[in-house]
Amino acid sequence: MLAFLPIGSIPKRMVESGVMRLLSYETLIDPFLKDMRTFIAQLVGINQGDRILDVCCGTGAQILECAQRGAIAVGIDNDPAMLKVAEGNRVKQKLDNISFQLADATSLPFKDNYFDYVSISFGLHDKIREVRNRVVSEMKRVVKQHGALILADYQVPLPRNIWAIVARSIEFLVSGSHYEGFKDYLSSGGLDGILRTHNLREEQRARVKSGLVVIVKAKKI
Ligand SMILES: C[S@@+](CC[C@H](N)C(=O)[O-])C[C@H]1O[C@@H](n2cnc3c(N)ncnc32)[C@H](O)[C@@H]1O
Repeated sequence: MLAFLPIGSIPKRMVESGVMRLLSYETLIDPFLKDMRTFIAQLVGINQGDRILDVCCGTGAQILECAQRGAIAVGIDNDPAMLKVAEGNRVKQKLDNISFQLADATSLPFKDNYFDYVSISFGLHDKIREVRNRVVSEMKRVVKQHGALILADYQVPLPRNIWAIVARSIEFLVSGSHYEGFKDYLSSGGLDGILRTHNLREEQRARVKSGLVVIVKAKKI
C-alpha cells in the first residue's frame, strides 16, 4: 500500500521513487493507520518482556506501538531509508527496548523458535507468490511453537467501497512485481490462502478501516 491519493495525481516515476514513498508513509499512511496500530498491539496481548519481531517494518509504526507496551521488540526492513525514519521515531519516543535491523524478510537473521510474536502489516500483498511464501515460512520458523503470527493486510475479496477503489488504484500505479504480487494475493485468497498454504490455525480475526484491512492472529499447528 502506498498512500491514499487520488488516481493520477502523482506521476508513476514519483510513486516509485523512495522520496515519494517516505513522504507518503510519514504524512499519510502512518497517521491514517494510527488506530489500527493500537488495535493490533491490543490484539497481540503483549506481556512485559515478550519478544516480538515485526517483518517489513517500514517506518516502525507498528512495532513501536508494541515496544511502548514493554515488549522486547525488533523491526526489520530491507530499505535503509525506511529504517532511518524508524530509528528517528525510536529516539523521539525514548525507547531502548527496541532495535531496527537491515535484513531480508526471506532470510531472517534469527534462530528458530526465538520470538513470542512475529508480525507483518502490508508486507504480503505486494510480493510475488514465491517471495510471499518464503517470508511466511521464515516468520513461522522464528516464532515459538506456542507463539503467534500477526498478519495484517488487505481483506480478500476487497470490500465494495471507496477505500477499496482507492487501494486498487494505488496498487495499479506501482508498477512491476508489486502489482503482479497484488493481483496474485487477491486471486489466491489473501490471508486465508496464506493460512491454508502454511498450515496455520487462526485464533482471532478482526476487520478494520471500513473492512479494507483484515488482521489475523494465527498459530503453528
Ligand atoms: C507496504 S510497506 C509496509 C510497511 C509497514 N509494515 C507498515 O505497515 O506501514 C512494505 C515494507 O516492506 C519492505 N520490504 C519489502 N520487501 C522486503 C524484504 N524482502 N525484506 C524486508 N523488507 C522488505 C519495504 O521496504 C517496505 O518498508
